[in-house]
Amino acid sequence: MKALEVRIRKARKGDIDRIIDIERSWQHLSHWSIDSYYRLLNDDSFTSSFVAETDGDKGRSNIVGFVIFHIAADVSEIYNIAVESAHARSGIGYELMKAAVQESGRRSARRVILEVRKSNNPAINFYLKFNFTVTGDRKNYYSNPVEDAYIMELAISD
Ligand SMILES: CC(C)(COP(=O)(O)OP(=O)(O)OC[C@H]1O[C@@H](n2cnc3c(N)ncnc32)[C@H](O)[C@@H]1OP(=O)(O)O)[C@@H](O)C(=O)NCCC(=O)NCCS
Repeated sequence: MKALEVRIRKARKGDIDRIIDIERSWQHLSHWSIDSYYRLLNDDSFTSSFVAETDGDKGRSNIVGFVIFHIAADVSEIYNIAVESAHARSGIGYELMKAAVQESGRRSARRVILEVRKSNNPAINFYLKFNFTVTGDRKNYYSNPVEDAYIMELAISD
């Protein structure tokens, strides 16, 4: 599994259907409308989005993961990151997060923040591996089901 070749590139509007497929395949993720994705991908000044692409059947490329983040002043906030479940634990999330942190730094962010469900141990471990630390929590931050969030942060070094 680890040998899967992926390319990280900026997301385009034509990627939205695949992004939604991947997002919907994870029950615990907040599900956004198509309009929200169009708005986010249209907002080049604050929002950035990357997809991870592999070579699929017959030379066609296939999107297997995405990250969407928002940069305002010196803070970059990860809105969502997900990898298709069939390709989880292949290093794709790591490549997506690396690209998001690099782009955030390039656009003058000094730290990256995010919220994560307290029960989402795979994601928490993933962020810890990236040297994020827990800096607080938010009561009842999530719905369906209602759950608290951890706030996690990563300082961007020069
Ligand atoms: C969280 C997520 C994006 C990680 O992506 P991924 O491609 O599977 O992660 P990677 O293969 O790059 O893993 C990097 C490291 O993170 C940690 N990690 C990732 N998945 C893990 C899991 N299921 N359990 C424990 N640690 C895990 C490991 O330390 C791993 O390194 P290792 O494989 O060398 O041990 C992916 O699991 C996912 O899409 N989850 C569902 C969506 C979600 O919950 N997103 C977060 C919303 S806040």
